[in-house]
Amino acid sequence: MSERIKIAVQKSGRLSENSLDLLHRCGLQYARSQSRLYCAGENMPVDILLVRDDDIPSMVQQGVCELGIVGENVLREQQEADRETGNGQATVVRGLDFGYCRLSIAAPRETPYAGPQSLDGRRIATSYPAILGRYLARHGIEAKIVRLAGAVEIAPSLGQADFICDLVSSGNTLNANDLRETEVILDSEALLVATPRTLSPEKQAWVDRMQRRIDGVVRVRESKYIMLHAPRSAVAEISRLLPGSETPTVVSLDGCDNRVAMHAVCRETVFWETLEALKDAGASAMLVLPVEKMLA
Ligand code: PRP
Ligand code: ZN
Repeated sequence: MSERIKIAVQKSGRLSENSLDLLHRCGLQYARSQSRLYCAGENMPVDILLVRDDDIPSMVQQGVCELGIVGENVLREQQEADRETGNGQATVVRGLDFGYCRLSIAAPRETPYAGPQSLDGRRIATSYPAILGRYLARHGIEAKIVRLAGAVEIAPSLGQADFICDLVSSGNTLNANDLRETEVILDSEALLVATPRTLSPEKQAWVDRMQRRIDGVVRVRESKYIMLHAPRSAVAEISRLLPGSETPTVVSLDGCDNRVAMHAVCRETVFWETLEALKDAGASAMLVLPVEKMLA
């Protein structure tokens, strides 16, 4: 019987949809079980475990799941909290280019703020006591951390705290609660993490395969395949203008000595401005195509 690997994904929240979409793009087909906690992979020995995001770092660290998709904010909080206990850590494989947000200090609009020292002696409500504690210690500030599991944004209006330290993405939650962001203490995105445990060769092979596919999916997002015709004399200049590409392929055009066709994969967004610059350099018949899959 073949061994299976498990990937921990946030059950419901800011990362869920993008995480499942990413795994789907890696070719994983799965059936959603009734409990919705466990999705068995149908075409690969890879299962998805839908759990609370806060549980993902320890599940991966302990090897309950071989891989996980988790916000940097959640991982960092766990790492700071584990600093004293000396627990091993989940290994960060790569950023996934979604789930961007920041952990920030915010205050009621009328509260004056002149830098971290304004926090001295005040009460700060947060679900991120470890990251906040470290931030305050680094700035030599003594403040009272009020730990809350949720609804942090209403703590000031309830008189529980003077400031909050919470995740901000669009800023709508802060606005709706008459709070203003005063300091960013951590920038965050979704991360792929892997267990530090030693795996059987069979499991390790599937972990490696999933990592390679995820890598391909993330890199492909902004990539474009670009084709154009150019004067042979302009090849060097056009190569320089192609955004984020390695050496382009240059092929001769039948019956045409002074013009060539150039093909390249651009790993950065190709803007209209780029195409206009290419045209000015002598390019014509430009085609920009999406890239569907990429494997290094
Ligand atoms: C965070 C945070 C805010 C909201 C901010 O919660 O606690 O409520 O997102 O986002 P906005 O700036 O776009 O309004 P999240 O949904 O991540 O849930 P969790 O902290 O309970 O995991
Ligand atoms: Zn959470």
